[in-house]
Amino acid sequence: MRGNPKNRIYPMNNIRNFCIIAHIDAGKSTLADRFLELTKTVEKRKMQEQYLDQMELERERGITIKLQPVRMKYHANRRITQNSTQNNTEFLYKDLTYKLRGLLFEIRKSIGLGHKEQVYHNALEIELQKTGLKFESKKNVLIIYHGQKIGVYQPDFVVEDKIIIELKALPEIARPQIEQVWSYLKGCDYKLALLVNFGSKDLDIKRVVYDSARSASSLRDSAGVSDKVEYILNLIDTPGHVDFSYEVSRSLAAVEGAILLVDGVKGIQAQTLANLHLAQEQKLKIIPVLNKIDLPNVRKEQIREELSSLLMIDPEEIIEISAKNGTNVERVLERVIKDIPSPEDSGREQIVGGVGEEVFKALIFDSTFDAYKGVIAYVRVFSGSIKREDKLLAYATQAKADVIEVGYFLPKINPSASINSGEIGYIATGLKDPGLIRVGDTITLLRDNTNIETLKRLNFQPLAGYKEPRPMVFASFFPENSDRSGQDDYDMLRDALGKLKLTDAALIYEPESSAGLGRGFRVGFLGMLHVEIISERLRREFGLNLIVSSPSVEYIVKLSARGGSQPEADQPLAGAKNFGGKDNNEIKIRSAAFLPDPTRIESIAEPMVIIEIIAPSNYLGSVMDLVSHFRNTYISTEYLGKDTVFLKYKVPLAEIVTDFYDKLKSVSSGYASMSYELVENQINDLVRLDILLAGDMVEPFSRIVPREKADFEGREMVLKLKSIVPAQWFQIAIQAVIGGKIIARETITARRKDVTGYLYGGDVTRKNKLLDKQKRGKKKMEESGKVNLSQEVFLKMLKR
Ligand code: GTP
Repeated sequence: MRGNPKNRIYPMNNIRNFCIIAHIDAGKSTLADRFLELTKTVEKRKMQEQYLDQMELERERGITIKLQPVRMKYHANRRITQNSTQNNTEFLYKDLTYKLRGLLFEIRKSIGLGHKEQVYHNALEIELQKTGLKFESKKNVLIIYHGQKIGVYQPDFVVEDKIIIELKALPEIARPQIEQVWSYLKGCDYKLALLVNFGSKDLDIKRVVYDSARSASSLRDSAGVSDKVEYILNLIDTPGHVDFSYEVSRSLAAVEGAILLVDGVKGIQAQTLANLHLAQEQKLKIIPVLNKIDLPNVRKEQIREELSSLLMIDPEEIIEISAKNGTNVERVLERVIKDIPSPEDSGREQIVGGVGEEVFKALIFDSTFDAYKGVIAYVRVFSGSIKREDKLLAYATQAKADVIEVGYFLPKINPSASINSGEIGYIATGLKDPGLIRVGDTITLLRDNTNIETLKRLNFQPLAGYKEPRPMVFASFFPENSDRSGQDDYDMLRDALGKLKLTDAALIYEPESSAGLGRGFRVGFLGMLHVEIISERLRREFGLNLIVSSPSVEYIVKLSARGGSQPEADQPLAGAKNFGGKDNNEIKIRSAAFLPDPTRIESIAEPMVIIEIIAPSNYLGSVMDLVSHFRNTYISTEYLGKDTVFLKYKVPLAEIVTDFYDKLKSVSSGYASMSYELVENQINDLVRLDILLAGDMVEPFSRIVPREKADFEGREMVLKLKSIVPAQWFQIAIQAVIGGKIIARETITARRKDVTGYLYGGDVTRKNKLLDKQKRGKKKMEESGKVNLSQEVFLKMLKR
């Protein structure tokens, strides 16, 4: 097995598993692109920006929705070992060296070999100008001997005041040339030179290093002789938006370290903190990186100060990079190798009384479905190894399956002979039922008729799973095509949700039916972006047009004793769950449509969250002003460094789930950011607000709102509907109603179509006949009373 690199088993010392965590838009996917290029994981011609964002919607919106693993091979200097304390000059400049090599190869490609030295000098000058690197041509470098200036040396270039470039066009570079450069380095302040020869059979680049700690006898090692070790770097790219933090927490459980990426202009943002806390809980090694240093308004000093006090580290530990230009990116990979621990084999324990084999344990951190290979589990192997034709057991679901294929992410799935302890890879199970492979479950192997009982008896411990994600927002989805009996589209919707659930463990749903809209599903989401993404995916990927109800949080309704403990028989139960409160008289409501009659309600409690907002201090006033328009309880203001404020409030979740985040962004020119955490349910004075269109209640628009804001909300909704519902053939009244009382009303005037336009001349009877016909048609439509609203209208109404 060892001879074939594809199937080679890597020692665990040479494996690093890590992810990148950050606030949205800090540049994670861009940094991942640079890693893919540096490690040559993706061929240059196939490279496109934000490569790991493979979903169409991700690329279009420029956001990461799904976590994406990728396995990269990286050749690092042998001396960059874990916990190495060496301050290695040559290693510090490697990213720059890499870049320069790129330029030199570019020149060879463009003009070929065999020209005079000066030609290459001129070409490199142009290339250096293009990259924006700082460089000096033919600089006078002083040669010092015992503190005295003894001469001047003029290399072709000095780049970034760090690396000397010496260009040659010789048939061969021999030892004397290398020694000459080495001697120059010995006499000056520079420690690294690239000796480049365009004159021989191929472009030859030798790194010449002078390290005072090393003797001349080691010169050979540093002068172009390979000194590399191959590392396997498993990266999981994660989303940054608050709605997708569940994806982040799963990635974190599969790795040993995290790159904490901070936007060099925006600084520490709410999700930076939230994700950092998640990583710290998992005891991951954190590598702090400040990105976007190429931007003119980068705030390096302030952010370094804030970040170093947050992490309690020396500011020198923060790596400053430009993911866009590639500056210092290789340093990040080297720090990954140096600082992040290699995986440990946690399965050394042997099954008591068993054959003494290493137990196979792998944590499922994601899954997907393939028509041929069945459910594919994305796993981190914690111990043992698995190969094709093994028999697996998913511990929690007790599902058994034959392993159809195993392999790695390159980043597309790529088969291998086995996947082994410490690695990240996939297992194709052939299972057709997605429910059998659950994210967070442990996969093990079935040997010699082992079953769950034997495993339990033998003291098998599954890996710690994940907390079940808690949906924050609920919305009902009904197929728009319910007139064709609705069955087909309902089935399609059910299948589509099942497929999406496979790649989105946080999605939950249950069937629901509504008198007006037929059969559909009540779906639980992590936030509003999640609602939008899922409805958009259902439309694009499955061709489903949907009616989407106003999003709702989950309310706990206490029924009054007089009203009885159970919902009435005719009340649908899908949205109202009796969950057995003390007196069995509490129900959970996930949709305003299921709120019982007010006379039956004793109290309604709603979920409350602590919201944390981070903003530059000059936006403090506008942020506080914005929050004052929502129900809130102020908790605290703190400062992170001099110029960044950190605000805390307690607010009802319902207040912030719709468009609070968008508003926060707009009042702070995009600088403020937020995160929130559920704390408790609190009884508040809430009422149900309904919308009637042409006299009919449009159930999806019903909302539960605070009584004090009900009038205002009703008026707003009516006005908004008026502006987005297209004119119909007849006049329509839009009304907002609370408990039978109309609180707001607007009218959409009828659309007029000139049905007589094509008549020429004065035949009045014919004209009247046509107008009569139109009137009758309108009347008929009016009688049928249906105003057909498109998915677009429902989606627009989702936002306040
Ligand atoms: P999400 O996946 O949505 O969380 O975002 P992300 O963190 O992956 O950010 P992404 O890589 O998509 O970058 C966001 C934006 O910042 C893009 O427009 C990038 O081109 C830009 N960007 C990333 N890195 C740099 C950088 O070093 N310099 C500059 N100037 N722009 C950058």
